[in-house]
Amino acid sequence: MQARHLGPWCACLSPSHSPVIAVPGVMAETPSAFFSAVVVTILAVLGGCSAPSEAARAFFVFGDSLVDNGNNNYLATTARADAPPYGIDSPSHRPSGRFSNGRNIPDIISEQLGAETTLPYLSPELRGEKLLVGANFASAGIGILNDTGIQFVNIIRINRQLQYFEEYQKKLSALIGASQAEMRVNQALVLITLGGNDFVNNYYLIPYSFRSRQFALPDYVRYLISEYYKILQRLYELGARRVIVTGTGPLGCVPAELALRSRNGQCDSELQRAAGLFNPQLVQILTALNRKIGSDVFVSANAFGMHMNYVANPQAFGFATSKIACCGQGPYNGIGLCTAASNLCPDRDTYAFWDAFHPTERACRIVVNHMMTGSSEYMNPMNLSTILSMDAAV
Ligand SMILES: *[C@@H]1O[C@H](CO)[C@@H](O)[C@H](O)[C@H]1NC(C)=O
Ligand SMILES: *[C@@H]1O[C@H](CO)[C@@H](O)[C@H](O)[C@H]1NC(C)=O
Repeated sequence: MQARHLGPWCACLSPSHSPVIAVPGVMAETPSAFFSAVVVTILAVLGGCSAPSEAARAFFVFGDSLVDNGNNNYLATTARADAPPYGIDSPSHRPSGRFSNGRNIPDIISEQLGAETTLPYLSPELRGEKLLVGANFASAGIGILNDTGIQFVNIIRINRQLQYFEEYQKKLSALIGASQAEMRVNQALVLITLGGNDFVNNYYLIPYSFRSRQFALPDYVRYLISEYYKILQRLYELGARRVIVTGTGPLGCVPAELALRSRNGQCDSELQRAAGLFNPQLVQILTALNRKIGSDVFVSANAFGMHMNYVANPQAFGFATSKIACCGQGPYNGIGLCTAASNLCPDRDTYAFWDAFHPTERACRIVVNHMMTGSSEYMNPMNLSTILSMDAAV
């Protein structure tokens, strides 16, 4: 059963190499680093395998609906994706709380790590050895600010996600001991996706919103960035040492905004301007944090550029449209929620957007490809394949 932890190695083993199957049983009592060493040795003995030289590392995910694996299923909130047709193309074909037709960005990163997908932190299944895989703390609707998403009532705001991360570490310590737990956290990959909702579900939610009366856009962005800085600093204090931080995507181009704010199907310029102010300042604080720490802990992912490629040129990526959501109603299928009563496209792979705000699994795969092998224009100071090979060599 634990063979899944072996990730990419599995591909190197023919079924006749059954001795390895006996090894995972040791895992329960064995600190993971030692376990890794044992497996590496065994694989070396079996020979002929050029796969990565480490067991799947832990993976922790923080943020909003773009990366929520189902925490909101356990909350009394209206921000949820736990009814059909969500999940229609997932392995179970059932909704899981992911805002996708199938897998989402963290799931596809887990694939790249050779790991199972992260369980939502609130899932009762997240106990025992499952804790070694990591955890997903993300909650749809949240933002950098506490007042973002208040209309969704009961969601896990970012400070609470960080508290849960502390609580998680206590559980992991109880399982494998404090020093092994700390090492596993330090060696983990972390993903954090925040900020989009601070614009679409706060500043621009209604005309004359509280925040838009309080701040001009450039001042609001500076405020968001100063709050985000504190969040990232806290994440570092809690042991995160390899953190991918995504900027916001092209907020003005999602079907919801085309329906609400665009007259002619062009991306809304005001939301695009917000993203254009936010993203470069985010890169600046990541660089500043890395300099202060003296190490490349924070890696910026240019989500705007990654998504904009297929939004601007859908046909080049095999999409029939990047304007119309697969599931929804009204102009661009961009009005209201995706429900069983909505229009639903027959072939999700030909749509860039699944619902009014969220990409399809296929679009998510394009984004993760950029994360893996993208140039410094997309991943700075390094891409995920570089991270994986660098950290494996330590
Ligand atoms: C948000 O709420 C948390 C917990 O209540 C608090 O510690 C934090 O200071 C708040 N953040 C802001 C920007 O008000
Ligand atoms: C990104 O990954 C590829 C390997 O897939 C590598 O050749 C390339 O140099 C990397 N780019 C950067 C900027 O790290």
